[in-house]
Amino acid sequence: MPYLAAVRRSVTVFCSHVKLPGILTALLASALITFSGEQAGSTEKWTAPAAEARKKNPVAVSESSLAAGQKIYVKRCLACHGKTGNGDGPDAADLGIDPAKLSDPVIRQETDGELFWKITVGKKPMPNYGTRLSPADRWNVINYLRSLAKK
Ligand code: HEC
Repeated sequence: MPYLAAVRRSVTVFCSHVKLPGILTALLASALITFSGEQAGSTEKWTAPAAEARKKNPVAVSESSLAAGQKIYVKRCLACHGKTGNGDGPDAADLGIDPAKLSDPVIRQETDGELFWKITVGKKPMPNYGTRLSPADRWNVINYLRSLAKK
């Protein structure tokens, strides 16, 4: 993982700078790696509560909704989820994280309500957008995600 390699490298650089013995360098590096491993998110399945999943999207798919959704996506989501929703944005590699493939057919099987809930509450390392985006903008970005999944 490039992130862990980077951590190890920076710890080594830091320690050689302050002239710590090699054993301490190794201990510090492994402590940091254990810690960052916990930050990287779990692999267990993420499911929305049933009541949330039933919520209907009040924003119809239209040129203006897709344009608004695309604008939000490019600004807020692309860095992790990638230009085409492939989970390969530049931050994904830098942070050593594994963002969901939003272009994947499994996303198509999720309801808009499920996606809305996930975007609203977030899940480390993904931020929550409940206060960062208006409800209408969260629905707009979902309409845009649907257009990625169709390709
Ligand atoms: C810091 C990186 C990051 C950013 C920014 C980010 N995400 Fe995510 N996203 C993730 C990660 C990582 C996951 C996987 C979480 C998990 O399942 O553990 C995820 C999961 C998701 C999921 C759930 C997919 C599923 O499994 O059902 C949706 C939907 C989603 N993101 C949409 C968005 C949208 C929309 C934005 C922008 C408004 C966004 N994300 C911004 C990292 C990010």
